[in-house]
Amino acid sequence: MTDDLDTASPTRAPSLLHNWLSTAGIILAASSFFAAACLIAIDSFVGFRDPYLGILTYLVAPAFLVAGLLLISLGVVRERSRRRRMGPGEVPRYPRIDLNVPRQRRAFVVVSVVTFLFLILTALGSYRAYEFTESVAFCGTTCHAIMKPEYTAYQGSPHARVACVQCHIGPGAGWFVKSKLSGAYQVYATLAGRYPRPIPAPIKNLRPAQQTCEQCHWPRKFYGAAERVIHHYLPDERNTPWTIRLLLHVGGGDSTLGPAGGIHWHMNIANRIEYVATDSQRQVIPWVRMTDAQGKVTVYQSAGGALSPQQLAAARPRVMDCVDCHNRPTHIYAAPLTAVNLAISTGRIDAGIPYIKQQAVRALATPYASGADALREIPETVTAFYRSRYPALARTESAPLGRAVAELQRLYATNFFPGMKVDWREYPDNIGHLNFPGCFRCHDGSHTSADGRSITHDCKGCHTIIAQGTGDSLPTVASAGLDFTHPVDIAGVWQTMLCSDCHHGVIVE
Ligand code: HEC
Ligand code: HEC
Ligand code: HEC
Ligand code: HEC
Ligand code: HEC
Ligand code: HEC
Repeated sequence: MTDDLDTASPTRAPSLLHNWLSTAGIILAASSFFAAACLIAIDSFVGFRDPYLGILTYLVAPAFLVAGLLLISLGVVRERSRRRRMGPGEVPRYPRIDLNVPRQRRAFVVVSVVTFLFLILTALGSYRAYEFTESVAFCGTTCHAIMKPEYTAYQGSPHARVACVQCHIGPGAGWFVKSKLSGAYQVYATLAGRYPRPIPAPIKNLRPAQQTCEQCHWPRKFYGAAERVIHHYLPDERNTPWTIRLLLHVGGGDSTLGPAGGIHWHMNIANRIEYVATDSQRQVIPWVRMTDAQGKVTVYQSAGGALSPQQLAAARPRVMDCVDCHNRPTHIYAAPLTAVNLAISTGRIDAGIPYIKQQAVRALATPYASGADALREIPETVTAFYRSRYPALARTESAPLGRAVAELQRLYATNFFPGMKVDWREYPDNIGHLNFPGCFRCHDGSHTSADGRSITHDCKGCHTIIAQGTGDSLPTVASAGLDFTHPVDIAGVWQTMLCSDCHHGVIVE
């Protein structure tokens, strides 16, 4: 293209494109342009879901196109300087453009139009490339083995319609650039196989919740009390049901929108809670500082493991936000106990099969070498028990047992990922306090302030139990709520121990 512009003399010199570099560049650019054009056409008419085709279309093909164009220019530059060295008079230092010469005018128009089209296409292409690298398909399935646990759990979660980037990147240019830079490293780590299994959480540089969760959720909004009905089945022959109905005092943080208080009181903009954790998963919290609306500061220290002044000086307190409680809002790996209780209560596992609760939890909690092994061994593990204890049930290839086994395989495939070493054990869930310390990391009753107050451990502080027990028709109570009854007799030790001292998401042995 440029050769026409710099030949001012009427006798045409051979084109500057006549060199092997530019020729290679022309072939490369033309073929990748053709490939990209075909792929883009396919994408816009049919639309492909395969992330690899997306990478090819919007990242790889354009990269080759640009490389081709660079080669062409490089060849021209080299050719020019070669000719200048041969005879200084022949090629002027810079191209001479004279729009009064018709041929040059035409060439100028052609070059301008082509450049303009190219820029528009580049803009469109980079927008699609941007959109594509922000898509759930790109984040969730490109490196499928690595992201399989997170992606699978996400698809069955309350946020299945929220894009990964809305929580992991959020709006604004700064985090966009940051994420693309760390993303480039992650692509390298994936290709080189240098990624941790499991991927560690908490993510230290997760963007603050104010800029992600709070783009959709409004912390001041008042939620009132939320009712939770939780169905348990005891690990006995009859799978005795034990149901708990709770009113969770979710509350809100702004008195102009509803009574400020309850659990979301933590998020009241006027309150600031900071804490120091001594472990990487933020499960052990010996030090908590509360600054209220009036600026009054209260420090609560745990009776067991208070921090020394040196430790405290070295620590960087974290300001509590949504993710300190809702740390698994979307990557939810159900514990065997939770998964099985839910499956029985919804009829996916027949409660009439003796000991099915106990056996199902055992089958899920057993370690397997791989997902495929688990799917093969689960039927064997479960039926072996019934063959020896209830031969009739096992022999008839009974439909209920077969269905239960199929459901267990499904539960395993959606909650357990031995390849990435991921399951419920790996990522403590901080909502509640049954299987993990959760709220009791601070609310264990032993975090006290200098003036002798402690962070509440009152069983009626966060929720009201409105029904509990066995049987279908549970009596409910209105106002004050029930005192907790433990489903089996453990001599009241739940009052002094943490639930998670015994409960770990499986049957307490
Ligand atoms: C509702 C918000 C939300 C969405 C949507 C979301 N994540 Fe997450 N993700 C989180 C939070 C919160 C954590 C845990 C952060 C912590 O504990 O520091 C997390 C953690 C992770 C981790 C670290 C390992 C783990 O399981 O904790 C990976 C990997 C991940 N997310 C990938 C994804 C992918 C891929 C998608 C889309 C398919 C996605 N996330 C969608 C909020 C979200
Ligand atoms: C792009 C918008 C969006 C973002 C960002 C978002 N959420 Fe949500 N979230 C939703 C929607 C929509 C629902 C309701 C889903 C439904 O009920 O179908 C929801 C539901 C929830 C629920 C109720 C879950 C349940 O079991 O009913 C919690 C808790 C929650 N989000 C917490 C978070 C947290 C924590 C973050 C940040 C890590 C976050 N959300 C980020 C849109 C969002
Ligand atoms: C102190 C812990 C804590 C903090 C901090 C917290 N939440 Fe919650 N939130 C809860 C609990 C507990 C519930 C009750 C429902 C449950 O168990 O999932 C809840 C419920 C919710 C719900 C569902 C309400 C309903 O009626 O089902 C949403 C949405 C939610 N939180 C969003 C947020 C957002 C956004 C933030 C940050 C601004 C936040 N929460 C901060 C503990 C917390
Ligand atoms: C990092 C420590 C920490 C964690 C974790 C924590 N809290 Fe708190 N919480 C506090 C502190 C500090 C206070 C204020 C104590 C005071 O009155 O000075 C508080 C107060 C409360 C209150 C009383 C609010 C009122 O109306 O006075 C409720 C309810 C509550 N928390 C619920 C929860 C729930 C539910 C969880 C778990 C999902 C939880 N908290 C997790 C530190 C924590
Ligand atoms: C700091 C707040 C807080 C305190 C104090 C508290 N709880 Fe809870 N509790 C919760 C939350 C939040 C949940 C709901 C978790 C969920 O959504 O699954 C819960 C759930 C429960 C459940 C249902 C568990 C299940 O999965 O079936 C029981 C039972 C329970 N609490 C009993 C108690 C008892 C007994 C005490 C007193 C020793 C107590 N709670 C103190 C916050 C609290
Ligand atoms: C000393 C150990 C111990 C402590 C502490 C303890 N439990 Fe239990 N819990 C048991 C045993 C044993 C069982 C019966 C076996 C089983 O179901 O896992 C049980 C069963 C349960 C069940 C039925 C579980 C199921 O199988 O679905 C619930 C719900 C429960 N406990 C709640 C709590 C709560 C809430 C706390 C804390 C306030 C608590 N437990 C503290 C030992 C304990």
